[in-house]
Amino acid sequence: MKKRPIIIDTDPGIDDAVAIGIALFSEELDVKLITTVAGNVDLEKVTSNTLKLLKFWNKSIPVAKGASCPLIEKPVYATNVHGESGMDGYNFEKGDSSNLLKTHAIEAMYKTIMESDEPITLVPIAPLTNIALLLKVYPEVKSNIKEIVIMGGSATRGNKGVMSEFNVAVDPEAAKIVFSSGLNIVMAGLDVGWKALIYPEDSKLIKTFGTTGEMIYSLFQHYRGGGLKNGLKMYDSCAIAYLLKPEMYTIVDTYVDVELNGEFTKGTTLVDLKGYLKQPNNVRVCMDIDQEIFKDWILKALKKCI
Ligand code: RIB
Ligand code: CA
Repeated sequence: MKKRPIIIDTDPGIDDAVAIGIALFSEELDVKLITTVAGNVDLEKVTSNTLKLLKFWNKSIPVAKGASCPLIEKPVYATNVHGESGMDGYNFEKGDSSNLLKTHAIEAMYKTIMESDEPITLVPIAPLTNIALLLKVYPEVKSNIKEIVIMGGSATRGNKGVMSEFNVAVDPEAAKIVFSSGLNIVMAGLDVGWKALIYPEDSKLIKTFGTTGEMIYSLFQHYRGGGLKNGLKMYDSCAIAYLLKPEMYTIVDTYVDVELNGEFTKGTTLVDLKGYLKQPNNVRVCMDIDQEIFKDWILKALKKCI
C-alpha cells in the first residue's frame, strides 16, 4: 500500500515522543521531514530531543530547526509538564547531528512539499509558528498540501488559559493564520486529548514492549500531562490517530476562529457550532473519541515501535 507522505512539526515533549514513535513505525505513513519549534521547551532542547528520538529508534529522517519564538507573544514553556529537558525520565544517547539540515524549517518544508509527487499532509503537534511562517513566506505550497492535521485548540475549556489550549495559546497569531488559510484543516484538540488516556495498567503493559516500552514507561513516570492514577493524556497521538484510524472520532465540519484581543481569552479557539459568526466552515473538529478504540489502537501501535 502506498504510504501517506507527512511532515511532523513538533516540540518534544513527552507526548510528542509517543506520537513521533507511532508515526515512524507505521506501515501507512512516510515521514518525509521533522521540523522543530519552540513550545514545550526551547528550540535547542526540542531539536536535541528530536535527534535523540531518531537515534533511539535508529531512524534517519531529515530534521530542520524552525522558530525559536512565537510571532508576537513571548515564549512560554511547559517544563512543569515535561521536565527541564522536555523529556525528563530517560537517559537518551546524544542524537546524531547528521540528520540535522542546515536550512530553516520553512525552507525544508517548502522544498519537501514542492518536490513531492503527491500532496503532503502537515502534522503540527506544537505551536503553529512554523506553519504560519511557511504559509506567509511561500503561499504557493498550498497547491501541494493535502491536509493540516493539528493537535491543538479546544471546543470547550483550556489547559494553558481558562479557555485556551497550550499550542494555540503560545502563538495565537500563528494559529489564526493557519485556521484562516483556506486549506483542509483537521483539529484534534483537548475535547479528544482529555479522553485519550493511558492508565497505570496500560503503562505497565507498555513497559513490556521492549526498549521502546521501557523508555516510554520511564518518561511517563515524569510526565505531568495528567496523573498516572487518573490517566496520562496522549494529546499528540490524537493527531496521528486521525491519520491512521479516523473512525475513532466524531468529527464536525464547522467554523473555527482564534481570539487575539481578549484580556483573559487571547488564544481561545472559538468553535462556532451554531453559526453565530456566520462564516463558512473552515475546520473539521474532532469533537469526541471512542476511548476503547483509542486505547486498543495506541497499545497496538506502540508494540510496533521496535
Ligand atoms: O495542549 C497539549 C499540547 O501542548 C501538546 O502538543 C503538548 O506536547 C504540548 O505541546
Ligand atoms: Ca507537542
